[in-house]
Amino acid sequence: MSVAESVTLAALEADPHPTLHRLRAESPVAWVPAIDGWMVTSRELAVAAMRDSATFTVDDPRFSTARVIGPSMLSTDGAVHSRHRAPFVDPYGAARVHHDLGAWVEAEARRLVIDLQPASTAELRTTLAAPLAVATIIRSLGLTEVDPERLLRWYSVIVETVQAIAAGASDTRAGGAAFTELRVAVAETISAQGGSLLAETARADLSEAEVASNAAVIMFGAIETSEAATASALLHLLSHPDQLQAVRTDRTLLPNAIEESFRLEPAAASIDRYAVRSVGLGDVEIAERDYLSISLAAANRDPEVFTEPDRFDITRPNLRQHTTFVYGPHACLGIHLARIETSAALSAVLDLLPDIQIDATASAGPRGLVFRKPVAVQAHWNPG
Ligand code: HEM
Repeated sequence: MSVAESVTLAALEADPHPTLHRLRAESPVAWVPAIDGWMVTSRELAVAAMRDSATFTVDDPRFSTARVIGPSMLSTDGAVHSRHRAPFVDPYGAARVHHDLGAWVEAEARRLVIDLQPASTAELRTTLAAPLAVATIIRSLGLTEVDPERLLRWYSVIVETVQAIAAGASDTRAGGAAFTELRVAVAETISAQGGSLLAETARADLSEAEVASNAAVIMFGAIETSEAATASALLHLLSHPDQLQAVRTDRTLLPNAIEESFRLEPAAASIDRYAVRSVGLGDVEIAERDYLSISLAAANRDPEVFTEPDRFDITRPNLRQHTTFVYGPHACLGIHLARIETSAALSAVLDLLPDIQIDATASAGPRGLVFRKPVAVQAHWNPG
């Protein structure tokens, strides 16, 4: 049996990296029966496919998100994609997010860590990374009138419906109802006084419904991924005491530590594309309508690009060449905000919990087929 034929969803969900290394060595583009599609595992071909949205599109009825929340920047290509994305580019650009949100995110991260301090132990994904991700996206969209618990409920119902449709279900009512509630909250935010990011985008070439679809995509894009990325960065750094010490001594190394963690465990392990025509990729011929899973997890550990790719090494010269935020027209809109969040969380931990140590036996690394996040990041410290 070939490696591609032996790939199982269970292996990809638990620890995909050994499987992905074997798959890449056999063929960097391989038909994998377990996903009923092609898996792309070399960095070079992954980047080529992501950049070529005219050939490998997201705009396909099998892409289940659009069936629950309507068309958005995530599910369209070409001119329609540009129209959906354009109003959000400046608000989520580096200058605006640093100016509008940088100090607020830092203060929120410190507030969360100060709350944790007296207990002398915590699981940091659920008590720091997750609440920071939710509070930040509410703040950034200006949905400040919405209770975070309500927002999370809409979010999880929409995610469940999207996943159920992907697995063959046809009933979109629960997700549709949650999306309608979100749409109402978006409409209220747009018409409220004071000027919010959503009101700004509604003045552009997008209807209110389209603004709501894109707001939902921004929530999808921001919550699980930022939680996972921050939790993984904490886990990686706290599990490598020598590199932790190097960052403590020279704080300018922190951005490298964060990017190296993004490389090793991308929060979205893969992205989906559909071939619009038959086309060669690497040594194989992809047929029109074929499904491709572009593995960011595999591209980020391609030994052709990264020496000793499985090692966490914050001095790696090319660690920024990871594909975690994707190349091409669908490159992550929230890349600057994601970096601010992870950096704020790690800085708050380093500043306020100077003797923090990981509880290795109670901690566990990432799991998940597409969205992967650490199971637990358990740590303890002296409450001071
Ligand atoms: C470390 C955290 C994050 C990771 C790993 C991540 C990853 C990704 C990936 C892989 C994509 C590409 C999806 C595709 O091509 O099919 C993407 C797109 C996107 N991300 Fe992020 N993301 C993160 C944080 C955020 C945040 C904080 C936001 C909030 C603004 C956000 C908003 C989006 C949006 C709106 C898209 C769709 C862009 C488009 O299709 O044009 N992401 N992200």
